[in-house]
Amino acid sequence: MLRRSFLPLGMSPLWSAFAQSAATATRDENFWAMVRKQFPLREGLVYLNAANVCPASMPVLERHQHFLRDFEADPSFQNRAKFGPLRERVRATAAKFFGVSTDELAFTRNTSEATNTIVHGLQLQAGDEVVLIEDNHPSNLDSWRNQAKRLGFVLKIVEATQLIDSSDALAAKVEAALHAKTKVLALTHVTSSTGVVYPVARLCQAARAKGIWSHVDGAQSAGMMQVDLGRMGCDSYATSSHKWLMGPLEAGLLYVKSSRLRQVWPSIVSVGYSEDGKGGARFLEAYGQRDDARLVALEASFDFLNLVGMPAVEARVKQLTSRLMAKLSENSRVQLRTNRRDGLYCGVVKADLPHVADLRVLDQKLYQDQGMAFSVTPSGPIRGIRVSPHVYNSLEQMDAVAEALRKA
Ligand SMILES: Cc1ncc(COP(=O)(O)O)c(C=O)c1O
Repeated sequence: MLRRSFLPLGMSPLWSAFAQSAATATRDENFWAMVRKQFPLREGLVYLNAANVCPASMPVLERHQHFLRDFEADPSFQNRAKFGPLRERVRATAAKFFGVSTDELAFTRNTSEATNTIVHGLQLQAGDEVVLIEDNHPSNLDSWRNQAKRLGFVLKIVEATQLIDSSDALAAKVEAALHAKTKVLALTHVTSSTGVVYPVARLCQAARAKGIWSHVDGAQSAGMMQVDLGRMGCDSYATSSHKWLMGPLEAGLLYVKSSRLRQVWPSIVSVGYSEDGKGGARFLEAYGQRDDARLVALEASFDFLNLVGMPAVEARVKQLTSRLMAKLSENSRVQLRTNRRDGLYCGVVKADLPHVADLRVLDQKLYQDQGMAFSVTPSGPIRGIRVSPHVYNSLEQMDAVAEALRKA
């Protein structure tokens, strides 16, 4: 499968060597050092902001560049005819990755667009209720607020509780908000603010039992954790390729369960739209001319993750974040905002340093002096520095971050 998708494109010798050894190599530090070499990250950069944007791996970049040049060299219909089948091949690869069928996936430009397709596509009315989590990203919170103003439905926002005792307690808190009038439960799989992992499978099941539509924002889970959407049991799921999937910028996916597809109105209708229902979720991606090279490049991100192995990716991300949190917890001046209980965290760590007056100054200094790139929340209840490592990071880098924050 990999050979079929990569070798005809003249992939670099680096990639061929990686592909060969990845099949058998033990997932030790040498292996992860080899993984890092597959990324164009500049020497000296300690990139720790996967929750915002990840670098694309070289196979993704090469595939993107290859097809972009091909397109621009000959934009004729004849040359572009190849993109239809290639796009379907990516869809098949993505469907297998997420454990769903090809007809349940639409290509969007990012998570925001995918989630908004659901927000604007469901036929809600005054009197209906939508349950949200306070910690949802604005694309899954403000979008609902906006639509509620327009259509008159009611929002019920469950308070965020980052440091809760267990997944069960978190689930129970959300379940208590579901009522007879609830039509939608809009969740986040892993929050971007503090990295809480929501018990989405249990919550989707609770929603299903009451006939409620469950939507899951997977911007922080796809490519970081093993995600089987069939097992999760959500009605819809949104994600971006440019985060943990390490794919091209501005590509995303929307999953809608086949039995629910006809309940979604498309937000945009253009050439390629069909009402006959034969194309599955494809009627939700007819936005006019698309950047086919970018979509085709997405296949390489799935191939890359499959090659490393999603169980290994998830274990590695957890190992990196656990190591960092263990080191940070030795520092009494650091306040962890991320829940350290097993099952409640994975790849996002938030830590506050209350003695540092302006975290933005520290953030800038660590970037300039030590090449460390984080995200920072300068104020509010989840003030802190956010560290989100991925497979291209090392345990040494986690130790270096803890040491840098110790000296701050
Ligand atoms: C949880 C979550 N949802 C949605 C988004 C939006 O992603 P995008 O900008 O790719 O649409 C983000 C971005 O950080 C996020 O963290």
